[in-house]
Amino acid sequence: MPLQLPADIASRSTPFYLYDLTLLRQTLTALQAAARPRDFHVHYALKANANAEILALIREHGLGADCVSGGEVQRALDTGFAPQDIVFAGVGKSDAEINLALAADIWCFNAESVEELVVLNELAGAQNRRARVALRLNPNVDAHTHHYITTGLEANKFGISVSELAAVIELLSTLHNLELVGLHAHIGSQITNLTVFADLSQKLNEIQDWLSDRGIMLPHLNVGGGLGIDYQRPEENPIPDFEAYFRMFEENLVRRPGQQVHVELGRAVVAQCGTLISRVLYVKRSQQTNFAILDAGMTELIRPALYGSYHLIQNLTSQGSRQIYDVVGPICESSDTFGREVALPETNRGDLIALRSAGAYGEVMASNYNLREKAPAVYVG
Ligand code: LLP
Repeated sequence: MPLQLPADIASRSTPFYLYDLTLLRQTLTALQAAARPRDFHVHYALKANANAEILALIREHGLGADCVSGGEVQRALDTGFAPQDIVFAGVGKSDAEINLALAADIWCFNAESVEELVVLNELAGAQNRRARVALRLNPNVDAHTHHYITTGLEANKFGISVSELAAVIELLSTLHNLELVGLHAHIGSQITNLTVFADLSQKLNEIQDWLSDRGIMLPHLNVGGGLGIDYQRPEENPIPDFEAYFRMFEENLVRRPGQQVHVELGRAVVAQCGTLISRVLYVKRSQQTNFAILDAGMTELIRPALYGSYHLIQNLTSQGSRQIYDVVGPICESSDTFGREVALPETNRGDLIALRSAGAYGEVMASNYNLREKAPAVYVG
């Protein structure tokens, strides 16, 4: 699907985030078509993109909200997500954030440590409430993805170690303001080899067997997010293979009678509908390298600088013969580079440049370093 541009693009100032709402709707429809018949419930991970316009569409398609801060819980409520469709995860929830979520009576807290359970119990008691909790377990499953976005290994800070489970269950029997409703696990992000979800399923099966032996059946199971997208070919392959993803769980995860299974996807929902549009400020030709210097930088899209991530770069203006450029931003950091040795049609000052697949972890990770202003969002479709 070629990039759809706003009609008035020539007169728009850059950079800006361009969102294709038609593609987002198609993605959401495909997602629900794969999830619903299999009775999977999807919570959208707001951390990927918390833009209110996008959230409104996501809510309309019947997804819940997976939040990791008080700000995200508030944004989900403000966008009209029902409290019973909101979960709150995160390794470091502050008292104020917990209190906000308790007062809103959200569906569930995904607790990540023993100390958090104790605090949650205290704060719930002070509000005369009983908080529903799921235990985020660290399943020690290797997601084989970038080490910065692997989260399910013992070495990562996330979740409660499975070896602690017995002690935690015992502790919970003394925390009367908490109701244990589920288990939660999330092993990492941008996962394209789906067999790791089978590994996760096996681990969860074993844990559930262990719980069953102790007479414990939990009504909810949350297997996290992490489904990856095709950064290389966003136009040919804009919608992730949700069927294959859910099939992997359907075939490997043993669901207990009456148990609800949740996934919490972020990137797979929103990445492909977003593009960062920028203009070339200067082309600097040096002996070794031609630099195409954009008016967008790591302040708008930090993924290449932070993780060395690949984003497809397209010149939307030029049809010239291909030349090789390092495509860089204006920020005073050498890591402010979107791509090295990129083949682009001959590129000149004023050309429009698209950085594709930027809908997830793009706008939300923007900063105002160098006192830059936030890039606006523009919608088509
Ligand atoms: N659930 C939990 C507990 C998570 O930590 C995450 C992402 C998700 C769900 C959603 O994962 P997704 O479906 O989007 O893969 N900034 C990085 C990605 C960080 C992901 C953090 N956790 C990036 O730009 O690649």
